[in-house]
Amino acid sequence: MTSKRIPLVAGNWKMNFDHLEATYFIQQFAWKLRAIHFDHKRCEIALMPSFTSLRSVQVAIESDNLKIRYGAQAVSVTSQGAFTGDVSADMIAHLGCSYVIVGHSERRKYHPEDDANIVDQVRAVLAAGMQPILCVGESYEERRKGIELDFAVGQVRDVTCDLSDEEAAKLIVAYEPVWAIGTGMVATPQSAQDAAKAIRNDLSATFGTEVGETVRILYGGSVSSKNAVELIREPDVDGFLIGGAALKVDELTRICKLTMEATS
Ligand code: PGA
Repeated sequence: MTSKRIPLVAGNWKMNFDHLEATYFIQQFAWKLRAIHFDHKRCEIALMPSFTSLRSVQVAIESDNLKIRYGAQAVSVTSQGAFTGDVSADMIAHLGCSYVIVGHSERRKYHPEDDANIVDQVRAVLAAGMQPILCVGESYEERRKGIELDFAVGQVRDVTCDLSDEEAAKLIVAYEPVWAIGTGMVATPQSAQDAAKAIRNDLSATFGTEVGETVRILYGGSVSSKNAVELIREPDVDGFLIGGAALKVDELTRICKLTMEATS
């Protein structure tokens, strides 16, 4: 992390918590953040609930004027019409969302989300005035072959190649090695840094240094309060996308606190 970028701790709740549980979590979380005098100017926090909880999350956050941001976990590439079960970017934006996760490895695996579809999701999110959190990262097989950096950089390039500089500057990239997601196996700080640096260098080469230095690059994959400090100390790691640990309010509070403290 560098002082140029404000770190982001984003909780990806995946398919957990109904709207009552989501509301209860946010109330506890807000209370715990206040108890530790959390400074939202030094570290941004975002939560990504299921679609069905977005409205309740909005109400919980807005009614108490909390500084927590929130967003969705996926989005339709079309704006409206006969697409049963889909949710458009405008619908998400109208609920006050700041972010949408795009291209998470679980979406790429369980849904027909290829690069072309992910490009369209990124465009839809940007057009609705939100920021995409673009997930990339190698599988165990690619890592075994030693091509993990090229693979992650290639995934970012495939999605960003047609974006303008202005659009690219709004991206957030989450480097999430697939083998680390939900497994308890975390990338070493050095390998998270190597991937973040490689992605940043490539963005700088394509869109200019200003864009490259603006884009926040998160690490995701078995982040916990035990490994967060070492990871966030790396100069190109600007925060976290967190699954399992974001479901436990004390653990998420600890990670937020450690990330905030690393900014001073
Ligand atoms: P994890 O999930 O923290 O449970 O590994 C991360 C993610 O899938 O974004």
